[in-house]
Amino acid sequence: MSNKNNLEALFKPKSIAIIGASRHPGKIGYTLMKNIIEYGYKGKIYPINPKAEEIMGIKAYKSILDVPDEVDMAIIVVPAQYVLQVAEECGKKGVKVLVVITSGFSEVGNDEAEKKLVEIAHKYGMRVLGPNIFGIAYTPAKLNATFGPNEVLEGPIAFISQSGALGIALMGWTVMEEIGVSAIVSMGNMADIDVVDVSKYLSEDPNTKVITIYLEGLKPGSGRRFVEEMKKVTMKKPVIVIKAGRSKRGAMAAASHTGSLAGSDQVYNVAFKQAGIIRALTTEEMFDWARAFASQPIPKGENTIIITNGGGVGVLATDAAEDHGVKLLEPSPELKEKLRKAMPWFGSPKNPVDLTGQASTENYVEALKVAYESDEVDNIVVLYCRTAILDPIELAKAIIEVNNTYRNKCKPMVAGFVGGKDTFEAIRLLNREGVPAYPSAERAVVSLAKMLEYMRYLKKVKKQ
Ligand code: COA
Repeated sequence: MSNKNNLEALFKPKSIAIIGASRHPGKIGYTLMKNIIEYGYKGKIYPINPKAEEIMGIKAYKSILDVPDEVDMAIIVVPAQYVLQVAEECGKKGVKVLVVITSGFSEVGNDEAEKKLVEIAHKYGMRVLGPNIFGIAYTPAKLNATFGPNEVLEGPIAFISQSGALGIALMGWTVMEEIGVSAIVSMGNMADIDVVDVSKYLSEDPNTKVITIYLEGLKPGSGRRFVEEMKKVTMKKPVIVIKAGRSKRGAMAAASHTGSLAGSDQVYNVAFKQAGIIRALTTEEMFDWARAFASQPIPKGENTIIITNGGGVGVLATDAAEDHGVKLLEPSPELKEKLRKAMPWFGSPKNPVDLTGQASTENYVEALKVAYESDEVDNIVVLYCRTAILDPIELAKAIIEVNNTYRNKCKPMVAGFVGGKDTFEAIRLLNREGVPAYPSAERAVVSLAKMLEYMRYLKKVKKQ
């Protein structure tokens, strides 16, 4: 059951039937259909509901078997007791993939029905996403087949979630944080399609640059496949996983949530390491790092320079660099000389390069140009502390311009801007324009550290 075509139908269905599409606002089958329409899906939509003539202005059918055209994807939103019969009908209709929203399967001990569901699906060559999920969104296809928020920003970060409620919450959070996503996939019970299948598909997807996963646990016996297959995925794209259930009590909670085996946390650590997966401990970390991967090139070397207007943040960044294995370069006398010209006479061209609190936008631009053009520098951390004389928005615009000019140098840059309201706006602007920016020096440095970790992993496996 590894037919890629059916996963193609999961992300880019040509037509969708919503079985259990509802006429009543507030029901999941209503919100889901509304989201599909309002997010701008261009394919054909077929609501299936034995009691309705039409739903939201679209002709409804009593059964999927009555639909006159082909159906790629069937979203099932009927109560659990009807799911198997509906799945059988979908199979007869030639549906390629079932998206089963309905709860009440293995997560509550109803393993038999879940097994049967997969058997029916496979009998007809269908794949199953779920059951017990909030749906799937794929922004390049203008598809929001979820009952989460309608708004989903387009971008290159894919998000796979084994938790439903958290996934829905994070959907909303990505919008607030202006994080653009390619795909959001709810995994639920993973009766058939699992995290590996989806990751493999996304590793080939040109619209996805980085894959993020909220994982509670793998199915017993699937560890080896996970490591072997994810190794192939991470050769193509960075994967960041937040693995919940690290603590003993957390592991027990995860087991009763999605029915997955949480296993010893140490085992997961080893598996992630072997597979080249980067592990985050918080959702904030996961998206911080994803932003960096999404917008900057993978580093080529270890030598990092910090450019700052504040000694304090420079020191904090230096500490974070040491803690997280980021090597700060020792600038050569020639490089120091060039940097010195980019700062007031009382600045420091050592690393961290201190442009001083009197730094102007021109000083930053000059120092950044020197860094980009120097063969000694592989990576750049640019830091800013709000000062009365330097407007953060003006500085952000200048940084974006320099970053764009030197994209061909393939040197990743991350920014840490510390200050108040307008500094926050500058951070948003930087992120929007492809410079990963954070409200602290440490978060910027750690994001770069994770890119370096990935670079080292790739170098190691490519040598083997
Ligand atoms: N074929 C097509 N439509 C059918 C049907 C069938 N066999 N049987 C019922 N329907 C219709 C109903 O008439 C209804 O439409 P209406 O409101 O216009 O009358 C619609 O399908 C929904 O059926 P209903 O019986 O009202 O179910 P519900 O909306 O209360 O619950 C689920 C259905 C799937 C949402 C519910 O069973 C469930 O599993 N909820 C949990 C979902 C969840 O949390 N998933 C995980 C998230 S992470």
